[in-house]
Amino acid sequence: MDKIIIQGGNILSGTVEASGAKNAALPLLAAALLVDEPVLFHRIPHLHDISTMMTLLAWQGAKVMFDDQFCLHVDTSSVTKPAAPYELVKTMRASSLVLGPLLARFGEAVVSLPGGCAIGARPIDMHLRGLELMGADIKMEQGNIIARVNGRLKGAHIVFDQITVTGTENLMMAAVLADGETVLENSACEPEIVNLAESLRTLGAIITGDGSHRVVIQGVERLHGGEITTIADRIETATYLAAGLITGGDVTVTDTDASMLESFLAKVRETGALVETGDGFIRCKAQGRLRSVDIDTQPHPGFPTDLQAQFMALMTLADGVSVVRETIFENRFMHVQELARMGVEIRLDGNSAIVHGCEKLSGAPVMATDLRASASLVLAGLAASGETEVSRIYHIDRGYERIEEKLRKLGGRIERVSANESGLQGSASL
Ligand code: EPU
Repeated sequence: MDKIIIQGGNILSGTVEASGAKNAALPLLAAALLVDEPVLFHRIPHLHDISTMMTLLAWQGAKVMFDDQFCLHVDTSSVTKPAAPYELVKTMRASSLVLGPLLARFGEAVVSLPGGCAIGARPIDMHLRGLELMGADIKMEQGNIIARVNGRLKGAHIVFDQITVTGTENLMMAAVLADGETVLENSACEPEIVNLAESLRTLGAIITGDGSHRVVIQGVERLHGGEITTIADRIETATYLAAGLITGGDVTVTDTDASMLESFLAKVRETGALVETGDGFIRCKAQGRLRSVDIDTQPHPGFPTDLQAQFMALMTLADGVSVVRETIFENRFMHVQELARMGVEIRLDGNSAIVHGCEKLSGAPVMATDLRASASLVLAGLAASGETEVSRIYHIDRGYERIEEKLRKLGGRIERVSANESGLQGSASL
């Protein structure tokens, strides 16, 4: 199993480009199932989760191919299996994004029910209830969701109990081919939802209200092929900006969009760091030691849960005490004990972590537990004195494209080694 080894202490500065967003690209690829004509995708990031979605589409019978310009061609006209097997769903929960599109186009779908995950239970009950309101008959058999509809799905008025990102995406995709109007109330308004709605419009869908908490979809008979482009990854963007800040440096991320990161940038300003934004770029420059600030994760446009761990890493070296409250997922503090191994005091109190900023972190062997937790450990390792070894980095490969290369470009001393190179294979400990 690969590991990342970091020699901490270098100040990171310079410029890196943002990649396409994982959480935008996944629903966009699922949306190709709504169309029986070719769809061309630009700016698809090379990530493990994207390969899983491509494998799923190919397993269903689609033709999926990158060309020499790194554009992805997907043609789902040959799909014969409207299903998603456990082997793929268990490695990536977002595989369940195919449920809405398959049901809308084929009238049936058999999708394995995702199990729990490291950061919380993450049920998909609201996705299923919404599809039922649209006329689907849904049963559970042997761990699979069996969804069927007689004829076409019907437009419905759906009120989400709680804001759900992939729930909004799944139902939006189902609704574009339904009979009549669907209204999604209390829907998510993340930039990835807007990217999906804009892309579906390019393919012939009629959608209004995306970017607000009320999305209205007028079903159409069919969609057509076209070209769609993934937005910049706002979480990746902020992770590199945080890498600059935690090392006392000055990092600019290009090909990105500051309007997607307002709550994060407001908090960075509160720490006393300099933030500059312009057409397609964001620069963050540390100006002395950061001040501690509190954060509270919220659905967009609030502070993203996907940046909670990275911001906590920043707070480990800030001046003062910071309270980090996680309101979206019930178990998203797995990085706390790993950060503590690097010498910081963090006390957990319900859904809050109280971080006592310290003067210095010391490198240590730490273990990645989920994607964003791994990113926080890499950030801490870049700032710590000595060597940090991050194991189980397959988590990081799910969501960060060429992370070592990008961090090295900024001056980070970071490399990937395979476990047998690090020489500790098969040793037992008492
Ligand atoms: N929830 C339910 N029932 C549902 C759906 C959601 O109870 O039917 C709960 C969840 O358990 C959670 C809350 O509602 O407590 C919000 O979850 P949401 O459905 O919004 O999360 P998601 O759609 O499964 C996406 C991202 C996550 C990101 C969250 C929140 C994708 C593929 N995943 O997940 O990204 O954290 O929204 O913004 O878009 C990541 O990239 O590291 C990641 C975990």
